Amino acid sequence: MEARPAVDDAALGREALSVLDANWTGTATVPAPGLYPHQWSFDSAFVTIGLARANPGRARAELAGLLGGQWRTGMVPHILFRTAGGYFPGPSVWRSHDNAAAPRDVATSGLTQPPLHALAVWWLWRYADDPETAEGFVRQVYPMLIAQHDYLETTRDLGGAGLAAIVHPWESGMDDSPVWDSPLAALPAVRYAYHREMLPGRHPDNHHDRYVSLALSYRDSGYDTRYLRQDHPFAVEDPMFNGIWLASCEALAELAPVAGADPRPHLEAAERIRGALAARLWNGWDGLYYARDLRAGAPIPIATVGSFAPLLDPRMPGEQVSALVATLESGRFMGAAGYPVPSIDIRAAQFDRSHYWRGPSWVNTNWLLWHAAGSHGFTELAQVLSACTLRLVRQAGFRECFDPFDGSGRGCRDFSWSAALTLDLLADAALTAGTGPEPESGAGPGLGTLGA
Ligand code: GLC
Repeated sequence: MEARPAVDDAALGREALSVLDANWTGTATVPAPGLYPHQWSFDSAFVTIGLARANPGRARAELAGLLGGQWRTGMVPHILFRTAGGYFPGPSVWRSHDNAAAPRDVATSGLTQPPLHALAVWWLWRYADDPETAEGFVRQVYPMLIAQHDYLETTRDLGGAGLAAIVHPWESGMDDSPVWDSPLAALPAVRYAYHREMLPGRHPDNHHDRYVSLALSYRDSGYDTRYLRQDHPFAVEDPMFNGIWLASCEALAELAPVAGADPRPHLEAAERIRGALAARLWNGWDGLYYARDLRAGAPIPIATVGSFAPLLDPRMPGEQVSALVATLESGRFMGAAGYPVPSIDIRAAQFDRSHYWRGPSWVNTNWLLWHAAGSHGFTELAQVLSACTLRLVRQAGFRECFDPFDGSGRGCRDFSWSAALTLDLLADAALTAGTGPEPESGAGPGLGTLGA
């Protein structure tokens, strides 16, 4: 454990805000200085959530800036290159400007990331101190969120069963997870030699070569939909990506009336995803969800923190919620680690307490599970998740991730989503203690105005 003076909640909140200020470029919050000098989609959604109560104006600017990079296909790219900072793979690899559907004024990657954005907008709307401005913002971004969801439904349902497939590990938000090991190992011969020394200690074997090669194949197809369906060698239905999508559909259903639209199509979309998750990814025997490799036609039986993300569904049947919570609290996950939640089952052969997405605990996945637990009425579980997460950042700082056994920091320092979500957890703790502003009703989309 790194030595760090104990800080009280107010000081912790101030530190979090100063990290977010330092990482603000004037148009976006970079995930961390140095290693991640651009705008990332998943990160910006978490930053929006974290700033929703602390600085709503900047939270709106963050999300609007990100959606400014949306492609005409509706795809929200996973990276927007808005600064001069060096990063590999950068604009010359993705070549977004060669594609007519990409925006002209900003270079982007050609991949996407989990569609958390509608939930982030819901957060902004729900916790708004100025409802009129928040509603205006909902009306402004609603069409873009619809386009994003339409893209997933029409272009990414590669399995034809109602789930969105990711076509690259970088789309998952859990880049080095062992879940991608077998689909990556099955790729055709790799034609790219990556300079491994750029990211020491991150990528086992030649995974990074495979990541880059996969991105190049998709790019060389012209980011073509038919190519994805027929020829692209990596297609995985991931429970975290789809659990987040479902939660965002529920959020859109609540935002629709604000935008003068019909909520029903979003509830129907959520129902389709719910059914497909249960039919295709649920593993009753193990009490959790597994990803499915569409190219191998088989589940990938590795339990990760993402296996619990479908809990974000506010309407999940009670028996399934109980089974998931039991596995989450077992000695495979929370019950084993002093600083939960480890990113994979600690009994898995691939578990590595210090390797990025192969063992460490993360603030963003803890936050997602905290939110899910609260929305299902598991108050104590939510409190444990919140307290453990705050303990991690209080002791080790706003690190990228943490050793699940001793809580020491791993990866980047001053990591934006760790700081941002700390602010949200602190705001919620103040609310619970009766010292914060009262929200309107409900604990999450699907439980508020529309009822469960
Ligand atoms: C890593 C993470 C991904 C995140 C990015 C920027 O690639 O796996 O989730 O968006 O870093 O922080």
